[in-house]
Amino acid sequence: MRSFFRLVDHDQVFLQRRCILVNGPVIVGAGPSGLATAACLREQGVPFVVLERSECVASLWQKRTYDRLKLHLPKQFCQLPKLPFPEDYPEYPTKRQFIEYLESYARHFEINPRFNECVQCARYDETSGFWRVKTISNSNSTKTEVEYICRWLVVATGENAECVMPEISGLNEFGGEVLHACDYKSGQKFRGKKVLVVGCGNSGMELSLDLCNHNAQPSMVVRSSVHVLPREILGKSTFELAVLMMKWLPLWLVDKLLLFLAWLVLGNIEKYGLERPSVGPLELKNTEGKTPVLDIGALEKIRSGDINVVPGIKRFYPGQVELVNGEILDIDAVLLATGYHSNVPYWLQEGELFSKNGFPKAPFPHGWKGNAGLYAVGFTRRGLSGASLDAMRIAQDIGKVWKQETKAQKKQITACHRRCISQQF
Ligand SMILES: Cc1cc2nc3c(=O)[nH]c(=O)nc-3n(C[C@H](O)[C@H](O)[C@H](O)COP(=O)(O)OP(=O)(O)OC[C@H]3O[C@@H](n4cnc5c(N)ncnc54)[C@H](O)[C@@H]3O)c2cc1C
Ligand SMILES: NC(=O)c1ccc[n+]([C@@H]2O[C@H](COP(=O)([O-])OP(=O)(O)OC[C@H]3O[C@@H](n4cnc5c(N)ncnc54)[C@H](OP(=O)(O)O)[C@@H]3O)[C@@H](O)[C@H]2O)c1
Repeated sequence: MRSFFRLVDHDQVFLQRRCILVNGPVIVGAGPSGLATAACLREQGVPFVVLERSECVASLWQKRTYDRLKLHLPKQFCQLPKLPFPEDYPEYPTKRQFIEYLESYARHFEINPRFNECVQCARYDETSGFWRVKTISNSNSTKTEVEYICRWLVVATGENAECVMPEISGLNEFGGEVLHACDYKSGQKFRGKKVLVVGCGNSGMELSLDLCNHNAQPSMVVRSSVHVLPREILGKSTFELAVLMMKWLPLWLVDKLLLFLAWLVLGNIEKYGLERPSVGPLELKNTEGKTPVLDIGALEKIRSGDINVVPGIKRFYPGQVELVNGEILDIDAVLLATGYHSNVPYWLQEGELFSKNGFPKAPFPHGWKGNAGLYAVGFTRRGLSGASLDAMRIAQDIGKVWKQETKAQKKQITACHRRCISQQF
């Protein structure tokens, strides 16, 4: 697996080393989750420091997403706490609009992250009762190691922090271009080319559609099963419909209804090589974190044969791929739409709140708070709406303690002042 995350060799010579005592929590990550937590803390009057490895806010959206991307869920489920989207935004904002919203959100709440600071390690020091968070900053030619000491640590590094780069036999010998979906911008440069898209999640489907729209010839690898749902049913967002039904009905019944409605709208998709999992879409999301695909046009291209659905890969050869059914395809490029993973286990030295896969052990809605002032935001597998819920809870929790302590401190200071004044007379 390739990783954006780099642990620095500690024998390396650092020209600067610094230690900073933070008054308030340290938030790691300036994506939507980190920004939402910072905004809610700002409202509670709690100071904070946000650390971000990249040089901008929302780096996933700014740097690692394709041009045609729009939010898949209606805007009311994607806006962050305390500041709604501008009224003129469409139902499904574009990536550019979403980035503009996040940038104005940061400005509105005066959130100024410390950019280019990648957290390498964070651990709780039992003796002092503080978290010690080490970063490497490489904004200029001088490498700086900074240690932040804080009472509260908020993990907001995201479910999609690193790309999954599968090791597939022969891929090194393939010879053509191999890209992960996070580096794909548009199908323009693939015009006229035969492209193998590995993976059939939302990324794989949408990259395949984009390739078709740029006159490339995509073959999409579906190695197991996938739930495809229409983005809308009778003009209503499928997600919104599911949320509504969940208020009254048990999950298994909502799953059955969703599958029935999907069948009415999309027909039988199994005949195109898209076998459905035996478990329903919401249950699968809850138990395995596998997101259903919300179709925005790829299915039509599959029906028309413009997207060629193929089974799993056996191995690559120069300019070719062999599939598990023995078929051999000539291909010019490979796009790995193979997903993402959390990077928390690389840097957080803790085993109570987070499990080895970098997600909280406790299921939603219980995975936001750990011991000794540790919090997790944006690991609910419920996208932006889950992140907003976490952010509000965390800010309230920290805000309560903060207010109690500042009140107590003020009392102490006032008492001290009174004593001083009475001694003077
Ligand atoms: C292509 C794509 C489309 C998506 N579309 C939607 C959608 O329409 N709706 C939806 O709800 N969700 C969507 N998602 C899910 C997406 O994860 C969320 O929208 C959102 O970005 C989550 O915000 P976050 O802040 O938790 O994580 P991120 O946006 O990933 O932000 C985490 C931040 O932490 C930083 N970071 C990571 N590690 C470190 C470190 N060690 N030190 C310092 N900084 C670090 C990163 O650079 C990043 O800026 C999409 C995901 C992808 C990949
Ligand atoms: N507009 C949007 O809202 C939008 C767009 C894109 C992505 N997203 C979100 O971003 C997140 C990530 O989505 P994603 O599609 O990038 O990842 P994903 O949902 O994790 O899907 C990864 C796909 O890659 C396949 N895969 C992995 N390794 C493979 C291998 N070695 N050989 C063949 N296939 C392999 C998986 O197959 P298996 O199922 O068999 O493992 C799966 O089909 C999701 O939450 C998604 O909803 C949202």
